[in-house]
Amino acid sequence: MRIILLGPPGAGKGTQAVRLVARWGIPHISTGDILRANVREGTALGLEAKRFMDAGDLVPDGVIIGMVGERLAEPDAADGFLFDGFPRTVPQARALEALVNERDTPIDVVIRLVVDQDDVVARLTGRRTCSECSRIYHVQTDPPAQEGRCDACGGAIVQRDDDREEVVLNRLEVHRTQTAPLEDFYFERGLLRDISAVGSVEEVTERAVAILGEYDRPRGGDAA
Ligand code: AP5
Repeated sequence: MRIILLGPPGAGKGTQAVRLVARWGIPHISTGDILRANVREGTALGLEAKRFMDAGDLVPDGVIIGMVGERLAEPDAADGFLFDGFPRTVPQARALEALVNERDTPIDVVIRLVVDQDDVVARLTGRRTCSECSRIYHVQTDPPAQEGRCDACGGAIVQRDDDREEVVLNRLEVHRTQTAPLEDFYFERGLLRDISAVGSVEEVTERAVAILGEYDRPRGGDAA
């Protein structure tokens, strides 16, 4: 399965991605997670990306496309993948289309998570993330068992720098102007499927699974 998750910041792409890749046994490719790992490790890519991320702006297409090309060349992506946070612009979508066409491995489906702006602001300002394994929490709806410690790996739980309200508002505006046009790009190709991202995490997963089941059967067992 080759899947793209679309939706505004805070729609629940990362939350759903983890559950869906567990069912389908494919890698979760989050450009945001790759960039944040580079920032933590202080690589040249991380240093370049950080100022865009802190402001809630997009990292330049050339940087992202090169990074994704390298990730797709890794062996675990040969039989499928799920993209979360990529593509984010029409040039990124065109570059991905060229890459997958070259390999004769087209995208199967693009799932758009649909949610109101007020909901995503509340989700993002309450989000906390494990600094070690990137597991996602929410201070009200999904807190860790022990405050400040990740249930999965024991790492420290932090607030992302770009989850401050003023940065969140810019990220939503960037999504509206630069990422939303992708919806037409995939609609025209007959790949776009919408699901509501409102309701419990499990309900949203089941909506996505119902769509993905039309394309392929899960291989990895039950959802995480
Ligand atoms: P990225 O990391 O991709 O962030 P994003 O797209 O803004 O998405 P988020 O991670 O904020 O939200 P999400 O939809 O994954 O929601 P989540 O599951 O966490 O990008 C960050 C930055 O990196 C960008 O601003 C840019 O600078 C750069 N970047 C990354 N990719 C790029 C690219 N391709 N090109 C250029 N630049 C790029 O959920 C949010 C919260 O809601 C959590 O607390 C969760 O617990 C809660 N929640 C989830 N589901 C539900 C539910 N059903 N009900 C209630 N709460 C829920």
